[in-house]
Amino acid sequence: MGSKKIVFSGIQPTGDFHIGNYIGAVKRWVAEQDLYDNIFCVVDLHAITIYQDPKILRGKIRQAAGVLLACGIDPQKSLLFVQSHVPAHAELTWILNCVTPMGWLERMTQYKDKSAKQESVSTGLLDYPVLMAADILLYQTHYVPVGEDQKQHIELTRDVAQRFNSLYGETFTLPEGTIPKIGARIMGLDDPSVKMSKSIASDQKHHAVGLLDSPDQVWAVLKRATTDSGKEIVFSDETGKAGVNNLLTIYQALTGQSQTEIENHFQGKLYGALKREVADVIIETLKPIQERYNALMQDKGALDAILHRAAEQAASRAAPTLQKAKEKVGFVV
Ligand code: TRP
Repeated sequence: MGSKKIVFSGIQPTGDFHIGNYIGAVKRWVAEQDLYDNIFCVVDLHAITIYQDPKILRGKIRQAAGVLLACGIDPQKSLLFVQSHVPAHAELTWILNCVTPMGWLERMTQYKDKSAKQESVSTGLLDYPVLMAADILLYQTHYVPVGEDQKQHIELTRDVAQRFNSLYGETFTLPEGTIPKIGARIMGLDDPSVKMSKSIASDQKHHAVGLLDSPDQVWAVLKRATTDSGKEIVFSDETGKAGVNNLLTIYQALTGQSQTEIENHFQGKLYGALKREVADVIIETLKPIQERYNALMQDKGALDAILHRAAEQAASRAAPTLQKAKEKVGFVV
């Protein structure tokens, strides 16, 4: 493990994983488990910056962890744990709070967007990026794979780390944000001009296919997928063909066939057939994931035990950095 680059990913336990997350992120995380020292954190402390129904949240935390395990994240190779199980995250957040000017947080665009939608804004929502910085910096992370919307938070993490390092001396590694490769972008099935998103999916029934959806649900969404008035089934970057291109991209990601093979296969077929076949490969992909997921959820005690074991490992990996930060600021340790 020692020489591998450390990669930290934070996963919100709100909203459901969909096929876009699977193709764009989870599938690669699973494939790259031997290449990197991967840390996956289900960020429940972040989730409650906006009120969550406690009963639903508890289910969603287990669900997020369970889905990742079912997709093939292997606890022997990767660290997958729940943020609130490791108190070091909250502790380091406090220390970092004290070197973070308020103005930096008030400028964050995600904060501005989210707070505009809230009647009352919690201190936690403003502080969200500092908690995220603590997540990343605790593990001396090299890379943070994030979407466009999180880039500003990575910049802030670097700024906070740099400020701490220059005030108190070298303590934290400066992380780099990595943006997932193109081709990994799956668009909304209802609207192929926007990226498939968990939050849109929770309002818009035909936007995404969830990883836990039944075959009937998969087909109900695919049947209504937006295409165009033409009939050519080809990969294309024309705006008008974005819907068909998206369906073909999903098909390609899940079958591993080449673009030419796929275009030959669909030549002369109708959009209805394309939708049916894409639905079928999705259903085939989800079947073993759902079987593993259901088995895991049968025994919540066993799942919780896996998570608590991982939390112990995370805590012992985080401890030296937290200790160092405490020493640097002048605490008696
Ligand atoms: N803010 C991230 C998101 O909404 C989740 C997150 C929390 C995260 N802590 C992190 C992502 C650390 C990367 C690294 O997607």
